[in-house]
Amino acid sequence: MKRLTRKSILKIRIYKPGKPIEEVKRELGLREIIKLASNENTLGPSSRTLKALRDYLPKIYLYPEDSCFYLKRELAKRLKVRMENFIMGNGSDEIMELISKTFLNPGEEVIYGHPSFLIYEIVTRIMGGRPVPVPLKDYAYDLKGILKAITKKTKIIFICNPNNPTGTMVGEKELKAFLKRVPGRIIVVLDEAYKDYVERRDFPDGIRLLKKNRNIIILRTFAKIYGLAGLRIGYGIARKEVIDLLSKVRLPFNVNSLAQAAALASLRDKEQVKRTRRMNALGKRFLYAAFQDLGLEYVPTQANFILINLRRNGKRICRALLKKGIIVREMSAWGLNNYIRVTIGREEENKRFIQILKKALKGGRK
Ligand SMILES: Cc1ncc(COP(=O)(O)O)c(C=O)c1O
Repeated sequence: MKRLTRKSILKIRIYKPGKPIEEVKRELGLREIIKLASNENTLGPSSRTLKALRDYLPKIYLYPEDSCFYLKRELAKRLKVRMENFIMGNGSDEIMELISKTFLNPGEEVIYGHPSFLIYEIVTRIMGGRPVPVPLKDYAYDLKGILKAITKKTKIIFICNPNNPTGTMVGEKELKAFLKRVPGRIIVVLDEAYKDYVERRDFPDGIRLLKKNRNIIILRTFAKIYGLAGLRIGYGIARKEVIDLLSKVRLPFNVNSLAQAAALASLRDKEQVKRTRRMNALGKRFLYAAFQDLGLEYVPTQANFILINLRRNGKRICRALLKKGIIVREMSAWGLNNYIRVTIGREEENKRFIQILKKALKGGRK
């Protein structure tokens, strides 16, 4: 079969998501599991969103509304952008794939930070593009390094802001200076999946930047703060001409109707966002203090997860945590063998994680 397969596909390493709760229950026979591995919002969706889902259920025999009209209209109103500037996707992952399918010719280069979101490499390889990872500097995107990596073949640059898995952020001034120096023919994707968790005040206003720069695409998702990861819905914001091109490769009905209904309801529930931000800020401070107590180095985060340097094999610690029903992310796929990444959860989840982590670091002794 390998001979029949496009060469660029053979180079793709299959993405391994955080272990699902049900899988761990099945494999280890555990009943209580805490999952802090995929940066979901463990508060779950708001009650208003759940009601919207229940109300919609009798209509699921119909195909979804392909244009996502109501959702786009609500987003347009809130973000002060025209409806024609949105494209909705089956998660923002899908928009990344649409971008690569629409713009990337074989052999063209795609630059992104390393370590960063693993999907950038996959969507590049799917189209036979050349991935150009640029190492982070002090755990943060090195925009100067990225400028140096630009060649005539560069087509797309992905900026993950805040960056997954480090939680670091590029500030407005830095990003503006960078954009001024990026040639206009290059598409710059600002992946803002964790934007709503940012505490720093100088987070770039992507929409204002988009209004000034032709080739910016902003990506956002309902999977994180809105708690809808299981429904798969995210979106892109760009100039109309960019959206029209992306729409050529988007298959019909890519966003299911329940996802549309839930996303619309969740946008209208401001309390949920406030509640989650508060939980995240408190959880972050609790975890920082606990890591300091344990003498563990961590990367201060602007997102809902923290990267921790264990100075010992992360996989082994993850396995020990898993046996006690705690799922966190081991980082070998990112080349960070001594690290783990933990999602900031609810108070009781964070406490339990720290309790079990302490034991695991002592080698399982009580
Ligand atoms: C940086 C980043 N971008 C995008 C996504 C994907 O979002 P979605 O669930 O909308 O596909 C994730 C999910 O983990 C992420 O970490």
